[in-house]
Amino acid sequence: MLSLMHHPADAIVDVLDLADQLKASPEWPTPLAGKSVALIFEQPSTRTRVSFEVGIARLGGHPVVLAGRDMQLGRGETIEDTAKVLSRFVDAIVIRTVDHGKVMELAEHADVPVINALTHAHHPCQGLADIMTIRERFGDPAGIRAAYVGDGNNCCHSLMVVGAQLGMEVVAGCPAGYLPDPEVVATADAIAREHGGFVRVVEDPREAVADARAIYTDVWVSMGDEGQEGERERIFAPYQVNDALMDAAAPDVIALHPLPAHDGLEITRSVYHGPRSAIWDEAENRLYVQAALLTHLLGEA
Ligand code: CP
Repeated sequence: MLSLMHHPADAIVDVLDLADQLKASPEWPTPLAGKSVALIFEQPSTRTRVSFEVGIARLGGHPVVLAGRDMQLGRGETIEDTAKVLSRFVDAIVIRTVDHGKVMELAEHADVPVINALTHAHHPCQGLADIMTIRERFGDPAGIRAAYVGDGNNCCHSLMVVGAQLGMEVVAGCPAGYLPDPEVVATADAIAREHGGFVRVVEDPREAVADARAIYTDVWVSMGDEGQEGERERIFAPYQVNDALMDAAAPDVIALHPLPAHDGLEITRSVYHGPRSAIWDEAENRLYVQAALLTHLLGEA
């Protein structure tokens, strides 16, 4: 599960339906009993690590958390060899690393499912939580408009892809030089049009949020972009999600952000701690979508 670009929309809806069921259930089934899942982190994480570790335990499985630097991978063992060995021990591999090619290579050589827990190109687990949150607030996402404002990064890509699969209208407002990958946009737009939606990119943030019922932003300096803080803060300043930008969207608009947030940069505290924020539900929903995904991949509920 590397990007959700190649998964049938029905399978994504099944995962979201199961995530809703898990959220509503105090007692979870244990389809992962006797199963182990490796969680490799080459980059820091709070939400992804805790939600996967807790979710796997609640499903009856055993999470094996590995810091990339503590593995032989950090001393030059190849991805291919790591994939082959881990496949003999565990039932799935979850990995966070900057290089998307590394995750693709891991998946190519692993005999067990591989889940992308964030690369520079895609953050599909986050995208699932974003759409679960939109479904909770508005019902069927088909035809609902979501605006992504800021850096055309991995979260922007994943919102486009998952939104497209569910027939949403996704409009990204990003400055020149920081636009989403045109290949991802074209693929997502083609998927969206099959399902009655579209994906579009504009440079004006106010144009992007017109009629949007969800405004989504992310950090201006992603993991792997460190050292560009000053230039990025200057370029992205007009793309800040503040009360004025929220007021330019639909009357029932919600704010989304994958977190961690930076008050006064990409978003203001008045928005992310305010009444229009769905951000804390969005963070919580990581637990349910990932548990549903693991159930879908490894067992039956
Ligand atoms: N949104 C997200 O992936 O959070 P973490 O970096 O804390 O895992």
